[in-house]
Amino acid sequence: MMKKLLFSFLLFLYSSGVPVFCSDFNCTSLPPLSRQAGTVHELRPQDIKVVMAFGDSITAGFSMKGIHGLDTIYEYRGLSWSIGGDPNATTIPGFLKTYTPDLIGASLKSHILEFCYGDACIPDQHRPSEDVFNAAQTGAMLSNVNKEEYKYLYEQVSKNSKIDMKNDWKLLTILAGFNDLCLGCSGKVPILTPDDFESLEKVRANIPRVFVNVVEIFNLSLVYEKTKDSDYCLTFHRLFAIECFCLFDPDDGAKWRQIVDDHVVQYNERIRKVADDYKQKNYTEFAVIAQPGLRDGTAANVPFDFFSTFDCFHPSVKGHEAFAKVVWNNMLTPAAKKSTTFDHEAPYICPTSDTLLYTY
Ligand SMILES: *[C@@H]1O[C@H](CO)[C@@H](O)[C@H](O)[C@H]1NC(C)=O
Ligand SMILES: *[C@@H]1O[C@H](CO)[C@@H](O)[C@H](O)[C@H]1NC(C)=O
Ligand SMILES: *[C@@H]1O[C@H](CO)[C@@H](O)[C@H](O)[C@H]1NC(C)=O
Ligand SMILES: *[C@@H]1O[C@H](CO)[C@@H](O)[C@H](O)[C@H]1NC(C)=O
Repeated sequence: MMKKLLFSFLLFLYSSGVPVFCSDFNCTSLPPLSRQAGTVHELRPQDIKVVMAFGDSITAGFSMKGIHGLDTIYEYRGLSWSIGGDPNATTIPGFLKTYTPDLIGASLKSHILEFCYGDACIPDQHRPSEDVFNAAQTGAMLSNVNKEEYKYLYEQVSKNSKIDMKNDWKLLTILAGFNDLCLGCSGKVPILTPDDFESLEKVRANIPRVFVNVVEIFNLSLVYEKTKDSDYCLTFHRLFAIECFCLFDPDDGAKWRQIVDDHVVQYNERIRKVADDYKQKNYTEFAVIAQPGLRDGTAANVPFDFFSTFDCFHPSVKGHEAFAKVVWNNMLTPAAKKSTTFDHEAPYICPTSDTLLYTY
C-alpha cells in the first residue's frame, strides 16, 4: 500500500499528462437581442455580460488534473465548472460565450493553491489577472465567502472599467458549504444561521443586476462509496486526514457519514429557504435561484473518473464538465421541472430566442 502511494507521489513529481478536452456543447449562437432585459424575470442567456463566483476548492479548480507533475496541487481556475474561461473549456462561461463572445469575469489558467483554514484566509493571496471574478478560495467556509471573498469580488468588479456597473446583467454562481459540513467531523454542528448567506445581501446592496445560482450539494457519503474500492484512494484518505476525514474512518465511518449527510440535507433546505425568501421579496433586478441539479447524485450514476486521481475527493476535469452541464440545464429549466439527479448524460438544453434564465 505504502509503495503504491510512494509510486503515485513519484508520478506526481515526474508526470506531465496532456489533458483531453471533449467539449460536446453543441448549441449555436442566437441573433442579438433587440432589447436588453429590463427585469431579472425576463433575463436570457444572451443578456449576461459578466460572470462571478464564490466557493471553495471545487470552484478554485483544485487538483482537477489529478496527479500531474508539479501542478498536482494547483488550482485550475481556467477550467473551473462555474467560472473557467480558458479557450474551449467546457464551463458555464464557455457556454455563455456562444452568445456573448466578450463575456467579462471568467478566471484563467492555473496556479498554486490559495488557502483558507478554519476561519482565516491568507491575506491578499488572490491573483486578480488570473482569478478575475473567481473569488473562491481553497478551504473556504461560508464565513469566508461572506468576508474575504465578497471583499475581493466587490473590489474587482467595481474597479473594472469594461463593466457598465449599473446596466450590465451579471451571473453569480455559489457552490460552497463543503468545508462547513466537514466541520461535522470534529463533532461540531455546521453553522446554519440567518447570517450564513450574508454575502447575498451584500451583493444585492452593492452590485446591481445580478442573477444568483446557489447550488445544492450531494451527500458526501457518495465520495466514500465511490472511492472505497480503490486501495490508493483508501490509503490516501486515511493518511491525509484533512478532507472530511471522518467519512473514511475505518471504525466509525458509517456513523459519521450519516451525521454529515443529515447536515447536507439541512444545508440544502437552508439554501431553498434563502432562495424562497428572495422570491417573496420579488426584487426587479436581483434573484437567487436554488439549483438542485447535483443534489440527488448517487454512487451509481457518478463515474469513478469524475474524481481527481490525486486525492479521490475533488472533481476531475470530467467532473467539472458534468457540473457545468447539469447546472446549465437547471438554469434553463423552470423551477417545477429542474432535474435533481445529477443527470450528466442528458443533452445540453439549447436556448431559443424565448428561453429564460428562469426565476420561477
Ligand atoms: C446536441 O446533441 C444532442 C445529443 O447528442 C442532441 O439531442 C441535440 O439535438 C443536439 N442539439 C443541437 C442544437 O444540435
Ligand atoms: C478551440 O477549438 C477550435 C475549434 O475546434 C480550435 O480551432 C482551436 O485551436 C481550439 N483552441 C484551443 C486553445 O484549444
Ligand atoms: C413581482 O413583481 C412584478 C413587477 O415587478 C409583478 O408583475 C409580479 O406579479 C410580482 N410577482 C409576485 C409573485 O409577486
Ligand atoms: C442523502 O442522505 C440523506 C440522509 O441520510 C437521505 O435521506 C437521502 O435519501 C440521501 N440522498 C440520496 C440521493 O441518496
